Amino acid sequence: MVSVEKQSAPAPASAGKGLTVGAWAQRHLNLCFVAGFLLVLLAYFVVSQQFAVASPDAAVSAMTPHRKKHQATKSSGRAGEAGLTQRNRGGEATAEAGPAQEQRQRQRQQGPPKAEHRARGVGKRDRDDGAAKPFDNGKVVCRASPFSYTCDVSGDVRTNGTAHTVTLVPATSLTERREWSIQPYARYNMTGIPNITVTQLDSTSAASPAPACTVTHRVPAIVIGLGGHLGNYFHDFSDALVPLFVASRRYHGEVQLLASNIQPWWLGKYEAVVRRLTKYDVVDLDHDDQIRCFRRVTVGLNMHREFDIVPELVPGGVPLSMANFTAFLRETYSLPRAAPIRLTKGSSPPVDRKKKKPRLMLLDRGHYRKLVNVPEIVKAAEKAGFEVVIADPRFNVRVKELAMSVNSFDVLLGVHGAGLTNAAFLPPGAVVIQVVPYGKLEPMAQREFGDPASDMGLRYLQYSIKAEESTLLETLGPDHPAIKDPDSVHRSGWDKVAEFYLGKQNVRVDVERFAPTLALALDHLRRQ
Ligand SMILES: *[C@@H]1O[C@H](CO)[C@@H](O)[C@H](O)[C@H]1NC(C)=O
Ligand SMILES: *[C@@H]1O[C@H](CO)[C@@H](O)[C@H](O)[C@H]1NC(C)=O
Ligand SMILES: *[C@@H]1O[C@H](CO)[C@@H](O)[C@H](O)[C@H]1NC(C)=O
Ligand SMILES: *[C@@H]1O[C@H](CO)[C@@H](O)[C@H](O)[C@H]1NC(C)=O
Repeated sequence: MVSVEKQSAPAPASAGKGLTVGAWAQRHLNLCFVAGFLLVLLAYFVVSQQFAVASPDAAVSAMTPHRKKHQATKSSGRAGEAGLTQRNRGGEATAEAGPAQEQRQRQRQQGPPKAEHRARGVGKRDRDDGAAKPFDNGKVVCRASPFSYTCDVSGDVRTNGTAHTVTLVPATSLTERREWSIQPYARYNMTGIPNITVTQLDSTSAASPAPACTVTHRVPAIVIGLGGHLGNYFHDFSDALVPLFVASRRYHGEVQLLASNIQPWWLGKYEAVVRRLTKYDVVDLDHDDQIRCFRRVTVGLNMHREFDIVPELVPGGVPLSMANFTAFLRETYSLPRAAPIRLTKGSSPPVDRKKKKPRLMLLDRGHYRKLVNVPEIVKAAEKAGFEVVIADPRFNVRVKELAMSVNSFDVLLGVHGAGLTNAAFLPPGAVVIQVVPYGKLEPMAQREFGDPASDMGLRYLQYSIKAEESTLLETLGPDHPAIKDPDSVHRSGWDKVAEFYLGKQNVRVDVERFAPTLALALDHLRRQ
């Protein structure tokens, strides 16, 4: 549950247990800790009352995040995997577990908003002149994506953080006043993230001159919004890290980030990544009383697709792909492997214990969408020739530790959920196997992990759960519409889809039916 994670994230106790928060983030922590903690606490109480689907013991686990998970196989307790063999109440794509998720669910249900709806994203003044559509007058360039609206402003650009304004002061007298209101998060309609007003002043602005610069920057700026869905591991990547990489990579660190709704714990958690994208401390925009002057400011982050990059849409003429993103992560975290194990063509899996086997990481979710028969699956995978390690990444694990561990595997196997986000740390050429729960969830599964995995240069395999393998059959009976007619559940709305197929379902993989998928994975590694 998202808010629970946030509650545990900034707690000094977790930092003491190894979450390294850099000095710069620590400064922000000191500043914002009290307010942030209270807000999160409040959010937690609100959310916990509203969303009954949330794991009933979520609150308890938030207070005891280091509870040891039983070690299900002989190999699960390997040194180096210690950080992984624990329950995660946190970084899961628990689409049904919070208000932010609810919003995302609606977006899934309705699909990307149509261009007409985006008209709401524009300023009061020019609401009707199509400002939510792409706009380009050479100075202000705005792009609409299915998820967000962003503007690039160049010229004499001045920010007033406390006022949430970005003002373009005209160089000539030919400009007309225009205004845009932009939420700087990569998805529309996040609560808690203030809008930024972008104003292009007109020629009469001499009457009310723009405020004088108190700080002049040599480098361009990017205005981002944190919060939103962040705290959910999938969204950390999909909504922030990937869009931020896309927006900032071209500047090679020479860019100033201005963060609204700043989340020091988040910046601390992903400090290594943020540090490689900008050489400068992130400015807490909401409390910034300076008038900062830039030659160029980008307002908002643009998400091309879920957890993915469309190279043609990357600004600045530098084509970037998800493969570039994962290469960047490997550099950032000094991940040693850029290729999976090399198996000889046509060879059978090594029976010799001393010979190196391909390694398979089995993600064992702590709550709903659990694999009921983990030991059986482990056996089947071992029989197929893999060395199997069961992992359950928890929220407070250091990203570096997690990245290092995942990078040592050749196959990542898990039920649809945020744990699969870890695919980003696999060496290219490795294999991702997504187990898709019953209920016609394949398009969503493909969009959120299948396409991204392929774009990372991974081999993507999908295993769809049949009704007979779903615990829903036992709990609801064969005549329930959720079993007999998934289409009717989809027709009745996303809430029902989330309730039945994501929230109430565990899966018992039929290992015989699953065997060919494991064989395909091995086969792929032979072809490297
Ligand atoms: C904030 O911006 C979003 C678009 O990013 C828009 O939908 C919304 O109406 C704006 N809110 C206000 C209060 O202007
Ligand atoms: C920034 O905006 C705030 C709120 O509108 C205003 O009170 C303040 O004077 C502005 N700062 C400067 C330096 O103009
Ligand atoms: C934002 O939320 C409002 C009301 O909550 C809704 O009418 C609007 O369609 C939403 N916009 C988008 C782009 O989802
Ligand atoms: C992106 O990846 C491609 C293919 O590996 C590579 O040729 C290119 O240089 C990378 N681009 C950047 C900016 O790193």
